[in-house]
Amino acid sequence: MTVLRPDSEDFGARLSFDRGEPGRRAVDVPVWRGEQTLLPDAHLRRDSLRLPEMSQGELVRYYTALSARNYGIDSGTYPLGSCTMKYNPKINDLIASQPGFADAHPNAPQAEAQGTLRTLLELRHGLAELTGLPHVSLAPAAGAQGELAGVLMITAALEDRGELAPRRRILVPDSAHGTNPATAAMAGFTVTQIPTAEDGSLDHAMIERELDETVAAVMVTVPNTLGLWERGIEEVAVQIHDAGAYLYADGANLNAIMGRVRYGDLGFDVAHLNLHKSFSTPHGGGGPGAGPVCCSDELAPYLPTPIVVEGDDGLVRFAAPERSIGRLQQFHGNVGVLLRAYAYLRALGLDGLRAVSGQAVLNANYLRVLLHGHYDLPYDRPVLHEVVFSGSRQRREHGVRTYDIAKRLIDHGFHPPTVYFPLIVEEALMLEPTETEPPEAIEALAQALIAIAEEAERDPDIMHGAPWSSPIGRLDETNAARRPVLRWQEPASADV
Ligand SMILES: Cc1ncc(COP(=O)(O)O)c(C=O)c1O
Repeated sequence: MTVLRPDSEDFGARLSFDRGEPGRRAVDVPVWRGEQTLLPDAHLRRDSLRLPEMSQGELVRYYTALSARNYGIDSGTYPLGSCTMKYNPKINDLIASQPGFADAHPNAPQAEAQGTLRTLLELRHGLAELTGLPHVSLAPAAGAQGELAGVLMITAALEDRGELAPRRRILVPDSAHGTNPATAAMAGFTVTQIPTAEDGSLDHAMIERELDETVAAVMVTVPNTLGLWERGIEEVAVQIHDAGAYLYADGANLNAIMGRVRYGDLGFDVAHLNLHKSFSTPHGGGGPGAGPVCCSDELAPYLPTPIVVEGDDGLVRFAAPERSIGRLQQFHGNVGVLLRAYAYLRALGLDGLRAVSGQAVLNANYLRVLLHGHYDLPYDRPVLHEVVFSGSRQRREHGVRTYDIAKRLIDHGFHPPTVYFPLIVEEALMLEPTETEPPEAIEALAQALIAIAEEAERDPDIMHGAPWSSPIGRLDETNAARRPVLRWQEPASADV
């Protein structure tokens, strides 16, 4: 008999099909005593289906053990900066799975989907209030898609102004998330990179020098990807508008300023939000995410379709803005994610959201102070949502790279942070604890990183092959991304 030991050495080497014993079952199927079959004899299956033959206990343990091999936000601290994984409250899932929401067909008559539509309308109003930008489309399916929507809206507005032909440049800081320049390029603009000043903010003199009648927009991330406030952004906004260009906010980091500062009040014309970062929804990983786009009165006619509006008859409907850039995807956006964000927004209210941003900032600064001196901190000033250290000392003195540090953190029981971003920080280690981690978790993470800094000094070799404790060690990451092996193979031949 095969004894199932989920934690045994060969676990994962065999599939459920090769485990268990003939005749063993996970469920008892009652014996059918009615008429034998209505199928013609020739169509009856004679050979075995070759299903896994395991008892229910074995099967549940098998899958539970497999699931535990993933590190998720429900397993522990997940300090990814920028891509931000924070705890997803289970009440969000409960709300989104209510049959009235979950079973609604996207093509249901709108009069019969008023509950869902009104919920989306209230979410729209909430996001407008929080950003100070009164018009919102919930349609984009990710932050990056919200960005594309915003830049296409600017394109359409410039076209209507008759200025699209000369305005072919978008200014983007060199600390920006890669999606910013990629979006500008996808929309057909040339990207001009703006360097970061010594204090980690935009180089204002450079912006002033670059602003002319060839600039369509400036894309700025607030707070920026160094976790820092963009000093003087209000004055820059005035200069940008005086030059006839638009100011775009990458609002992915709203979680640091929610309930305190509004993009509209700072002078931004359009912003996208990442609901996974600020409103506790799952990220989606390019799948079912949501990146609403919010804008000023001037850009409202160009919002992507649909927007949610309330008619004079009191009915809520999907509508197409007058000069809409069109649809970004089928149907109405990722409603399941939008509902989760709504649940979060309503559960906390404005005071709660303000408390969230305060806690997020406090946590990032706590981590900054705990790690101070153990790793280089190129922009050494109080931070907002995240803090970006550098592993350059470890590299220079011990030949240990940030990549090694990140992998070694797995052995210490944590998910690695974001690494090598923003590009302007050498050997960047970007950490974002988020507001959902308690102080003890932040201390434990800091202790692990301090222990790793000591290991780098004492025993750099242990770092180079890490992780040692995970079922799969170092991957060939290029091949894993370019030529992924997505089907199970005999372990000897599995190379990814
Ligand atoms: C600053 C910033 N901008 C844009 C994005 C892109 O968002 P998404 O991954 O939802 O496309 C991210 C990622 O979370 C981000 O951190």
